[in-house]
Amino acid sequence: MNPDLDRLQPYPFQKLAALFREVTPNPALRPIALHIGEPKHVTPQFIKDALIGGLNGLANYPTTAGSDALRGAISDWLARRYGIPAPDAKTQVLPVNGSREALFSFAQAVIDRTREQPVVVCPNPFYQIYEGAALLAGATPHFLNTLPESNYALDFAQLPDEVWQRTQLIYVCSPGNPNGHVMSLQEWQALFTMSDKYGFVIASDECYSELYFDATPEGGAGAPPGGDVTTEVDAETASRALGTPASVRGHPPLGALQAAQQLGRSYDNLVVFSSLSKRSNVPGMRSGFVAGDARVLEKFALYRTYHGCAMNPAIQTASIAAWNDETHVAENRRLYAEKFSRVVEILQPVLPVSLPDASFYLWVRTPIADNAYAQALHRDYNVSVLPGSFLAREAHGMNPGHNFVRIALVAELEEAVEAAQRIAEFTKKL
Ligand SMILES: Cc1ncc(COP(=O)(O)O)c(C=O)c1O
Repeated sequence: MNPDLDRLQPYPFQKLAALFREVTPNPALRPIALHIGEPKHVTPQFIKDALIGGLNGLANYPTTAGSDALRGAISDWLARRYGIPAPDAKTQVLPVNGSREALFSFAQAVIDRTREQPVVVCPNPFYQIYEGAALLAGATPHFLNTLPESNYALDFAQLPDEVWQRTQLIYVCSPGNPNGHVMSLQEWQALFTMSDKYGFVIASDECYSELYFDATPEGGAGAPPGGDVTTEVDAETASRALGTPASVRGHPPLGALQAAQQLGRSYDNLVVFSSLSKRSNVPGMRSGFVAGDARVLEKFALYRTYHGCAMNPAIQTASIAAWNDETHVAENRRLYAEKFSRVVEILQPVLPVSLPDASFYLWVRTPIADNAYAQALHRDYNVSVLPGSFLAREAHGMNPGHNFVRIALVAELEEAVEAAQRIAEFTKKL
């Protein structure tokens, strides 16, 4: 067997299951799961209808490139959403079966094993697929710790020039999982400069791009009533120090292609990964896209032809309907904003909670070690949250997930509120 398989780490949820096996959850309380980032809002009916309407497509093999109609709908969506010229639907857009498989397979297509000791750079904490993709592509992952004291911005100085010289691919995630950080134009500029200098490909994971706080009619961000709740680290001070706007809340997050356009840069070595899973509450549909550098996508498409991952035709039809509609996405955002508002209000007196720039996560510093906190919360209050250290690696002398937990506000409002009340009660007693 491929020995690189032995280098893969157990997934965070496997580590969590092992941690929880050591205790018995309080049987008097129904379980509430906030550990996994799986959207739970209902799938819009019109998407289900479109899926059924597309069933005739099952009679044909789909192509890897997807239908012209789907690629066109994606290209039009990108133009509308980011205010950029519509990417060439034939060469700059490719449908994928959810961003996860694409983030993984992308490294297999990009990494040149004939070059000495290939490196893939990942943020830390991060979505674990990046690491597995790097390892199975024969590369070594190197980590950039993203920390609250620098407002979770990438700090390229953490890695020496010798590592950057060998870097062939970097994954970035904006809005970030788990911290929700949205990269500013200045951060993009710095990243483009690095990519242009060292020649590496940028894979920009943007699957949370549509889960942001809409501006209210009064001009503020949609949540919470108490305003921005910042803690020992003042996000606005940190932003100012980085020369970034004070708050990105109330605005759709900047995307990588948009940043390139604004900076007058080409899409060379730049590919974005997007998804309907969170935007449209269809994680089971497995539908997303990649867009950007036509030269890179041509090779990626070739790889995918052999990989055999063409999108099911009925899913393509449903995806066109989903990308063409924004009403359901705005409603989705409203539901998350309402949850953030209620949950933050409840947690604020006992935990240093702050609203993310975007996404559906709270990334919260814990008063005790993160795994002890998650385990005792599960045992006493039957609420599951994810220890931050499971989402990060030891790098540069620390695990940046230590003493953090990730709380995914995916449950319905009433359940999320009940979970917050239990978390508050639990934390007060510590
Ligand atoms: C950061 C990040 N990227 C990508 C994905 C994959 O999403 P999907 O494959 O549903 O598009 C997830 C899912 O949780 C994620 O958190």
